[in-house]
Amino acid sequence: METWDAIRARRNVRAYEDRPIPPEHLERILEAAWRTPSSMNEQPWDFVVCTDREALRQLGETWRYAKHVGGSAATVVLVAPVPGDQDTRDWIFYDMGQATMQMMLAAADLGIGSSHAALEDQALARQVLGIPEDRFCVGLVAFGYPADRPLQPIERPDRRPLDQVIHRERW
Ligand SMILES: Cc1cc2nc3c(=O)[nH]c(=O)nc-3n(C[C@H](O)[C@H](O)[C@H](O)COP(=O)(O)O)c2cc1C
Repeated sequence: METWDAIRARRNVRAYEDRPIPPEHLERILEAAWRTPSSMNEQPWDFVVCTDREALRQLGETWRYAKHVGGSAATVVLVAPVPGDQDTRDWIFYDMGQATMQMMLAAADLGIGSSHAALEDQALARQVLGIPEDRFCVGLVAFGYPADRPLQPIERPDRRPLDQVIHRERW
């Protein structure tokens, strides 16, 4: 897929076919995360990739809107150091947002669907994945082949009107 097509085709896919992602494609998605830019190149992240069905199911229990994680072919858990202050926390979330999008676009390029999920039950995620005490889970990014329809550029995305959002030269 062309980059522009991948950007337009990506959407949250929450229902997945029951088939695995080929290892080389999963590796590409993970490399996309690794290549992500970050504030001062601090790379405040670790990425835990999970494909075990029971672990995925349990991760899907960490937040009420994360159930789709349980049906994903793979989910990447975004892990960061527990921040000491609000500024550090803000930058972690900015950086992780970029890593999320980078993975999602790499996946869309391969026809693989993805979905965000927030995460509430840190203790459960810690227990399932063995995350150390000095780290926390920022969120989950689920991947799998769309069960509904293939990814295709969306002509009219559900967005606020472009001319209300873009301010040219001045507010
Ligand atoms: C920070 C963030 C957290 C999100 N958390 C969830 C979530 O917990 N569960 C979920 O189903 N979708 C979640 N989403 C997906 C958004 O609902 C979705 O991106 C938005 O509705 C736009 O739809 P689209 O991605 O299909 O364009 C999250 C998105 C972002 C950026």
